[in-house]
Amino acid sequence: MADLPRHPFLQGLSKHRGAPPTVVVIFGASGDLTARKLIPAVYNLSVDGLLPADFFLVGYGRKVIADEEFRTLAKEAVKEFSRRELSEAAWARIAACTSYVAGGYDEPAAYTRLAQRIAELEKNLGREVQTLFYISTPPSVFAPILQNLGAAGLAGKYLGQAHHAKVIIEKPFGHDLASAVELNNTIRSVFAEHQVYRIDHYLGKETVQDLLVQRFANAIFEPLWNRNFIASVQITVAEEVGVGTRGGYYEQSGCLRDMIQNHAMQLVALTAMEPPGSYDAEAIRDEKVKVLKAIQPLNPAAGGDVARAQYAAGMIGGKPVPGYLEEAGIAPESGTETYAAIRLAINNWRWQGVPFYVRSGKRMARRVSEIAINFKRAPGTLFAESGGFNLAANTLSFQIQPDEGLSLILNTKIPGLETRTQPVKMSFRYATTFGSNTPEAYERLVLDAMIGDGTLFIRGDEAETSWKLYTPVLEAWAAAGRDGLDSYVAGSWGPATGDALLARNGQVWRQP
Ligand code: BG6
Repeated sequence: MADLPRHPFLQGLSKHRGAPPTVVVIFGASGDLTARKLIPAVYNLSVDGLLPADFFLVGYGRKVIADEEFRTLAKEAVKEFSRRELSEAAWARIAACTSYVAGGYDEPAAYTRLAQRIAELEKNLGREVQTLFYISTPPSVFAPILQNLGAAGLAGKYLGQAHHAKVIIEKPFGHDLASAVELNNTIRSVFAEHQVYRIDHYLGKETVQDLLVQRFANAIFEPLWNRNFIASVQITVAEEVGVGTRGGYYEQSGCLRDMIQNHAMQLVALTAMEPPGSYDAEAIRDEKVKVLKAIQPLNPAAGGDVARAQYAAGMIGGKPVPGYLEEAGIAPESGTETYAAIRLAINNWRWQGVPFYVRSGKRMARRVSEIAINFKRAPGTLFAESGGFNLAANTLSFQIQPDEGLSLILNTKIPGLETRTQPVKMSFRYATTFGSNTPEAYERLVLDAMIGDGTLFIRGDEAETSWKLYTPVLEAWAAAGRDGLDSYVAGSWGPATGDALLARNGQVWRQP
């Protein structure tokens, strides 16, 4: 099927990871995520020969459009957003199995029409197919969709058999602990946990998955991976972009909900968890939940464990950009944070006394996501800074994006007749070793859900554990309004209060 050279990452994959016959139903089919990520993901999976031979795509949305129009929109989406150029032949294969059902999210009759469409596909094929419902709508309609799928008999289809109904739920998964619990209850009233795939697209990133491989496929890290050798861990998820056209959404969300509670906490969990007993979804997710539960409650007071700020006007890439309050759709006195920094203390044998610092922000100096493990310094018996040596703490950093890779800072002798030292960086770059056309996170996630591998998805208890940690902070911030909200210049590395969080422990943020 592949008519383009196959990426080395994918060689051999289809042989081992075949998905059963599947119909993917996308709710929110005319939305932005569908065009930018989901349709291109399906296209690229097809080009790579990873879709099952019997594959169908059904768009579902409120907009009344004909099948042909949906196919045209989908094709445009591939042209604009796919990592590969559109090949007419490859597209024709997807187009032939793509259709659309128009309906309200709260309209039972529309779900009957959807059930009929699926039944027709099965009849023509002469066999049952599994259904994968992808809920990519605003969160306000998650519950009606779930309930209507249940009422139409679509959720429990073939339950207990290998090929059953599955559901992928997009973010945001709740906006605090109570809403996450409520959403989990709605889901569980209709689907069993093993049918549910809660998305966090960070888990689909190659480098995030590589973290597990680096930690557990190499013997040299594990003996050092603890409080005896590690001084602190710094996680940065910085973006150059501002809120753009998403002001309405962002005002209700803010950085803590949008980036930290979900994406950054996944990085924390994978860095800090104990080695799982097996490379299996439940074993890995059990360890993630365990370590999240060991995190101490946060002190949201000034001088405590958190900092928050909003970007003011500044420069990005040499061009002036407005401050958050001047962006479209933002309230003039908005208290929404566009930057948050957190100090986490993990109270277990491995990590007690090792601070985990996490920061994220929009309109920061550079788009970069990294996990930096700062090791304790060598005893200065032979070489010490006080003796005039240029030394740094060893730092292992996982560059999640861009320029994906891994680097280690080591102290080295400068060649010459005198003994002088200098820290140097040893680097591995994905693009240099493997080429740069890496599959996108959504390709991996859609494929895994079709196959039934939940490793890279969030389990219900995991989502609730993270919300439990952050809900008191969100409540304290909501009560304080703009009091205690710092600001930073767009294009900088964030506010003074973010730096102060580390300074209290005599540390500084690493310049990624
Ligand atoms: C999304 C957030 O989940 O992640 C966005 O809603 C953010 O605000 C995006 O820009 C960042 O994702 P990535 O993959 O570009 O790091």
